[in-house]
Amino acid sequence: MTPKSNSESITFAPLQPEHLELVHAWENDPVLQDLSSEEIKEHSLEEVREALDKWIVGTNDTWVRGIYLGDELIGYVQIAAIDRVNQRCRIGILIGNSMHWGRGYGTAAFAFAVQYAFETLGMNRIGAEAYGNNPRSMRMLEKVGFRREGILRDNVFRGGRFLDEIVFGLLREEWELLL
Ligand SMILES: CC(C)(COP(=O)(O)OP(=O)(O)OC[C@H]1O[C@@H](n2cnc3c(N)ncnc32)[C@H](O)[C@@H]1OP(=O)(O)O)[C@@H](O)C(=O)NCCC(=O)NCCS
Repeated sequence: MTPKSNSESITFAPLQPEHLELVHAWENDPVLQDLSSEEIKEHSLEEVREALDKWIVGTNDTWVRGIYLGDELIGYVQIAAIDRVNQRCRIGILIGNSMHWGRGYGTAAFAFAVQYAFETLGMNRIGAEAYGNNPRSMRMLEKVGFRREGILRDNVFRGGRFLDEIVFGLLREEWELLL
């Protein structure tokens, strides 16, 4: 749970319209898609612009923050499927340039979104998923306190092979014990 020391240099703020091309490139990056997308496909600039416009202002069920290293946008963390009746949501994350991986930024950003979901949104449960080809993501989730709840075997097909989807969850009462 403790971020590595250089994670202190990242900050979180809304995305901006000027980030359209960068986000469009990330959404279409085959390496990132392989690790994190439900479906491998081409996203048009218009499609990404529409999504980005919503992410900038937020919606009733979505909250997104850019992850900044100094002035540079290096990724984003997203709370999605906010369900106020069942007090649950999901969190996803992307750091666009692999040069920035493995420095504790993902863990720090995920922990920031978890705190927002429990403290500000009043959620009781947060769900997250990782594919079987993404041990880095699983390690990050476990560092933040998530538990492995189950495996959806062969749940996605890409690059000529099936991948398991590992389902993670964190409850408010478990998170409070980590504070
Ligand atoms: C997943 C992601 C957000 C993680 O961010 P990050 O900044 O690289 O993560 P951190 O540095 O905070 O933590 C990664 C941990 O995984 C570990 N790790 C890296 N490769 C690993 C591997 N092959 N097996 C097991 N652990 C691994 C690191 O050592 C580190 O753990 P440690 O601090 O105990 O050493 C980032 O890599 C990313 O954006 N990937 C592409 C998109 C993606 O996968 N999104 C998540 C979809 S669920």
